[in-house]
Amino acid sequence: MTNAILEVEGIRKRFGGITAVDGVSFEVREGEILGIIGPNGCGKSTLFNCILGQLRPTEGKVRVDGRVTTGMRPCELNRLGVSRTFQLLQVFPQLSVRENLILAGQEHKGGMARRLFGPRDAGLGPDADRMIAFFKLDHLAHQRAGGLSYGQQKLLDAAMAFMAGPRLVLLDEPAGGVNLTMLSNLKERLKAINAEQGATFVVIEHNMDFVMSLCTRVIVLAEGKVLAEGTPAEVRANGQVIEAYLGH
Ligand SMILES: Nc1ncnc2c1ncn2[C@@H]1O[C@H](COP(=O)(O)OP(=O)(O)OP(=O)(O)O)[C@@H](O)[C@H]1O
Ligand SMILES: [Mg+2]
Repeated sequence: MTNAILEVEGIRKRFGGITAVDGVSFEVREGEILGIIGPNGCGKSTLFNCILGQLRPTEGKVRVDGRVTTGMRPCELNRLGVSRTFQLLQVFPQLSVRENLILAGQEHKGGMARRLFGPRDAGLGPDADRMIAFFKLDHLAHQRAGGLSYGQQKLLDAAMAFMAGPRLVLLDEPAGGVNLTMLSNLKERLKAINAEQGATFVVIEHNMDFVMSLCTRVIVLAEGKVLAEGTPAEVRANGQVIEAYLGH
């Protein structure tokens, strides 16, 4: 096989009479940033949920590093270096930025014994501080997450997915509702993690400028199927894509 870190083969997901994902196959190569775009309800989040163990696909296979992971639970995938963000924010509003990061790190790697008998921050304080500096959240480290702007919370949400130092991160609409300054901040951070740590990303996003300037390759979904695939420039120029998605 090639250097595919993720292989998705013939994934189909039915909810009663609805086929939300209808036989989707693609590969993600190590180090690339793959964008997934498509109209509302075309199956993007459902596809992520099938890849990452939140949902069991009706049909199809998922492999990480050549190993079949279909049906694995999210925590087992975490151990293989796979992490994600959700379309809706997953931060704990009552906890501080730093506490949120520590909690995310515990979820990824802290075993029960470490939680019960280890230091109060489970030894994750230095990792959290590194992530705070990296995402430029220093001035907010000890503020309650619930008091931050929506864009700052989205940035924290992304930072939480990186607490375990994952190799493959799937981000579901990281730019949704984020203002322009935070957006360029987020894009710059993702590019830096990709370049410095060789991390691989799959990003669902409706913001075309964000996708086209961040991603090396783009897949277009429509009605649960892959409609097109190519470089940002190729996808922008594709007549079918313009008609199905970009044209309105
Ligand atoms: N748990 C569920 N039960 C039943 N139907 C569902 C469920 N989850 C999603 N669907 C349906 O599956 C289809 C795909 O939804 P999905 O959320 O994957 O779309 P999406 O591409 O992520 O859309 P958006 O861009 O709005 O986030 C929709 O018709 C949706 O109503
Ligand atoms: Mg979605």
